[in-house]
Amino acid sequence: MDKKEALEKLKNEMEADIDLPLYGSANLVFGEGSEDAEILFIGEAPGRREDELRRPFVGQSGKLLDKMLAKIHMPRERVYITNIVKRRPPQNRDPFSEEIQAYTPYLQRQIDIINPVMIATLGRFSMNYFLPDAKISRDHGTATRINAHILVPLYHPAAALRSRKMFQELEKNFLELPKLLKDAKTV
Ligand code: URA
Repeated sequence: MDKKEALEKLKNEMEADIDLPLYGSANLVFGEGSEDAEILFIGEAPGRREDELRRPFVGQSGKLLDKMLAKIHMPRERVYITNIVKRRPPQNRDPFSEEIQAYTPYLQRQIDIINPVMIATLGRFSMNYFLPDAKISRDHGTATRINAHILVPLYHPAAALRSRKMFQELEKNFLELPKLLKDAKTV
């Protein structure tokens, strides 16, 4: 089975898992992009627009993500974008830890299939899955090795839309990604 087929199979399995929290209240937003992506972006959970279109990061945060990707000449189609919780929590509330726990085994399988060089987390929920003690205000932009991947925590684009300081930090960290990726591939 190739990667595309493996991802399709995983998606179908998730769709059929009636025990997943938020099943029945929102659509599954599995993720999209290149199955051969070198960078995997992991956000928090879909919002209203994402739920409607069943695609990750297509609302205001997504527009900013696209802009940041353009700055590093990396079109959306060349990366892979997903979320830690793959259904929209009501009123866009923060995901509960039980929701994160229920969805992460699927996320882990998605990571194993794509096997990206770099994982860039967007916001604290996906960061804390990999690094439980990390603090986004302190650790954003700092690369760490996690198993076979380089992990880079980034501010969530929604935070960058609210704060000029976080916007500047997100932009700075994005501009550093190509070098971190290159370095990761040469070790
Ligand atoms: N915010 C997220 O964390 N994920 C999305 O897909 C959209 C907004």
